[in-house]
Formats: sequence, structure tokens, C-alpha cells
Amino acid sequence: MPGGFVLHAAVVTSSDSAPRYQEFPVPVPAGADEILVDVLAAGLHPRVRSQAGGSHYTSTDELPLVPGIDGVGRGPDGLLRYFLLPDTTMGAMAEQTVIDTRRSLVLPESCDPVAVAAAMNPAMSSWIALRQRVEFRAGQNVLVLAATGNAGQLAVQIAKLFGAGRIVAAGRGAGRLAGLPALGATDTVLLEGDADDVARRLGRAATDVDVVIDYLWGEPTAAAMVAVVTDRDDRGKPLTWIEIGSVAGPTAAIPSAALRAARLQIVGSGQGSVSTREILAELPELAREITNGTFDINAQSMPLSDVEQAWADAASTSRRIVLTPRP
Ligand SMILES: NC(=O)c1ccc[n+]([C@@H]2O[C@H](COP(=O)([O-])OP(=O)(O)OC[C@H]3O[C@@H](n4cnc5c(N)ncnc54)[C@H](OP(=O)(O)O)[C@@H]3O)[C@@H](O)[C@H]2O)c1
Repeated sequence: MPGGFVLHAAVVTSSDSAPRYQEFPVPVPAGADEILVDVLAAGLHPRVRSQAGGSHYTSTDELPLVPGIDGVGRGPDGLLRYFLLPDTTMGAMAEQTVIDTRRSLVLPESCDPVAVAAAMNPAMSSWIALRQRVEFRAGQNVLVLAATGNAGQLAVQIAKLFGAGRIVAAGRGAGRLAGLPALGATDTVLLEGDADDVARRLGRAATDVDVVIDYLWGEPTAAAMVAVVTDRDDRGKPLTWIEIGSVAGPTAAIPSAALRAARLQIVGSGQGSVSTREILAELPELAREITNGTFDINAQSMPLSDVEQAWADAASTSRRIVLTPRP
């Protein structure tokens, strides 16, 4: 490597293949607020996969790329921090990375870095949506679509923490769905089987929801929206549909009647629709809940050196894989 020091990192050299564990130049802090941290844990979130594959809406084509949008690390000041990286080609999946301390939080020494790295990204999706994209009030009813995923399971728990009345959890996988009442779901709806039956079940369970937390989009969302609007107890009651993820498709054919027949508004929540300042403002309280053990977290750690295996496993495991450079 020209110029000197190298570390080991997960390195993407082609958007068609998984990152490889190889040498990479040690990054150098530039601004006054930047420090080099030893990375302890970095989550392999869907956003990280789409970043590495070049399909996320924030992606550039710049390669090579070290993926990883957030993680837990320790800086030269000895402090343990959760950090959120800006869009960068030097991500968190490396022995060391550069962070901006203004985009980080100091964590208690007693916390589990793997649990924090696993949970912050999926948890912030619903936390920020309910705090920043809707005026959510205790007692309101919530429907979570794709509730069996990592973000969905945390959305159920966060809705409960925020005092939701009914929490309708809808998702695939009867076994995983059956675990959601223990996390706070008051009703569950299996999104499998005959499409008309699914629509009937969903419509019946969600007659009085105020907020939909949607990780699906695509055709299932279009069908769910029609079902929910059609069966609504009171179509004049405001309903905010928050689009957060698109695991079932990037576009959805929303019938115009759905928007006319009920007091429905569709908003999105993510990087851009919520400013970095607003996101950062929410993180300390969320991190406190995570480190206090408020949530059930579904994490699995793997050594960074096994990154290729981790990429393959991520498609089939329902646990959030966290890569650890120093296992
Ligand atoms: N905007 C934000 O701030 C933000 C933040 C975090 C995450 N996200 C996004 O939120 C989405 C979910 O993230 P995650 O961490 O929960 O991912 P995850 O852990 O991989 O879970 C995805 C879930 O979606 C389910 N699913 C996929 N296709 C489905 C379909 N057609 N019908 C029903 N369920 C379906 C999967 O079920 P199976 O296991 O049966 O396939 C799985 O339970 C991703 O798109 C992610 O990028 C957005």
C-alpha cells in the first residue's frame, strides 16, 4: 500500500460480489472533530447490503468501498462510542475507522457493543418515525407491516414504550409472528396465503389504527392500504402511513380512491426526509433504552474476517449479524 499503514477491512471491489477481508489503508482523521477509533462491532443491516450493492438511494458508484454505516468503537480518549457515519467509502467494517465525534454518543462501559450495533439502526427507524414524522400520542393504535423483521420487532417494542393502545403486528412466518405478543403486540396478522384472505384478516384487525409503520412497500403495501381503508371504522379519523422500508418492492401502485375514501396521508421517514440534526437529537434517548436492556434484541456476532460468510448468511438468518474485528 502506498504511504504506509494498513489495517484489515471488509472491502467491496465490485457491486456484484460480497466484500472480501483484506488489507486497506488506515484512514486519517481530517477535521477537528474527527478521531480514529478501534471498531468493536458493526451491524450488517439491509442498508449496508444495499450500500455495498450500489442500490441504496444514497449510493455512489465509488469503489473500493468499506461498507458499514454505524457501529461501536473506542477512540484514543478511551471512551466507548456508538457512531453514525456520513455517506463514505470508509465505513465501519474495518479494524479502525474515522468518526466525527459530533455524530457519536458515549456509551456506558457496561453495555454490550454487539447489542448496540445490532439494534440502533433497526430501532431508530420507528423511533424517529414516531417522533419526527407524526405527532404520535399515547393511546393511539399502530399497525406494523413486516413486524417479524429486526426493525419490525423493535417497532412493536418502541410503540409499546411510547404508550400505543393497540399494536397490530403483521408479517410472514407464523413461528416468528407468534413471538410478537410477548414483545407488546396486541394482535397479529399472518401475511401469507390467499391474497383475499390476507386482506380480510388485515382489514379486520386494523379498523382503528392511527399510524402504519410500513417496511414493506411494493404490491403488499398497495393491497394492505386498500384493505385498511376499506374496513376502517371511521374514515374521517386521521391515518398516517409512514413508509420506512421497501423489502417487498421499490414502487407501489396506490389506488387514488384509497387517498380520497379515507383521511389518509402517506409520509416517508429516512435519511433526507429527517435531517441529520433531527436524527442525532433522538439517538441519546434511544441508546439509553438499548443499553438499559429495555428491548429484546436479536443479534448474532461473527468475526470480521468471516465477512464473506456473513454476507451469505444474512440472506437466510432472521438475526441481525454484527461483525466484530476483535472477536
Ligand atoms: N428509513 C429508515 O430509517 C430505515 C432504518 C432501518 C431500516 N430501514 C429499512 O427497513 C426495512 C426492514 O429492515 P429490517 O432491519 O427489519 O430488515 P430484516 O431484519 O431483514 O427484516 C425484513 C423483514 O421483512 C420481511 N419481508 C420481506 N418481504 C416480505 C413480504 N413480501 N411480505 C411480508 N414480509 C416480508 C422478512 O420476512 P422473511 O424473513 O419471511 O423474508 C423480514 O421479516 C429495510 O428495507 C431497511 O432498509 C429503514
